Amino acid sequence: MARIAIIAGTGFRDLNIPDAAEVVDAGTPFGQPSGPILRWMNLGHEILFVPRHGLDGSVPPHKVNYRANLWAIHEAQAEYVLAVNAVGGIANDALPGMFVIPDQLVDYTWGRPQTFFDGDKDTLTHVDFSFPYCESLRRRLIELAGDLKLRFLAAGTHGITQGPRLETAAEVNRLQRDGCDLVGMTGMPEAGLARELELSYACCAVVVNRAAGTGDTGIHAEIDRYLKQGMEQVSRLLGGFLEKL
Ligand code: HPA
Repeated sequence: MARIAIIAGTGFRDLNIPDAAEVVDAGTPFGQPSGPILRWMNLGHEILFVPRHGLDGSVPPHKVNYRANLWAIHEAQAEYVLAVNAVGGIANDALPGMFVIPDQLVDYTWGRPQTFFDGDKDTLTHVDFSFPYCESLRRRLIELAGDLKLRFLAAGTHGITQGPRLETAAEVNRLQRDGCDLVGMTGMPEAGLARELELSYACCAVVVNRAAGTGDTGIHAEIDRYLKQGMEQVSRLLGGFLEKL
């Protein structure tokens, strides 16, 4: 049996969470996770589901208790952590309805508690974050997504902005100049905290719109149109992942 944590935000209801999922009591030294953690068994494996914005979706990206979420996953000894993040596509080939398994990120967030090494321990570690996602987990997901013939990109740089507002077109231009292929609001500090806890963490970034100034239609109309489609792709990926474990 393996234990897999899934952290998902916008659109998570399309990920087929069973009604019978058990609620886990997960208080942490960093407070409560951003929503009740749900647990259920699937194909002999234990799934821990962390709703990043709470079950009612009310916790905005800058108020998510990323530390509590990651700590609870660490305490539960999850072997794999799959983060599902809705993003806007910047690269020409990052199209709504597909997903990207990013290999890099650029962090533009501020004011979010971003470390477990907060000066209250004598074990400060400057974690190596050169490659922010777990490469072996990424490889497994890429191989599987290829086998399942899903619509995805096997690499990309994930830019993470503060939100909750969307970006200006000029900000997206700047992100593009910085080398970002995608833009979302929740990829950090989550990935950095996962690294501090030495978790095997990878991201499936679901492209739900073209980033500001790069598309022809309104952003919200695109999100309404493509969120479900993208989440269905990721849902198939997660199902395949469990089958292959
Ligand atoms: N920008 C930032 N975050 C997002 C976007 C976007 O265009 N789409 C979904 N999350």
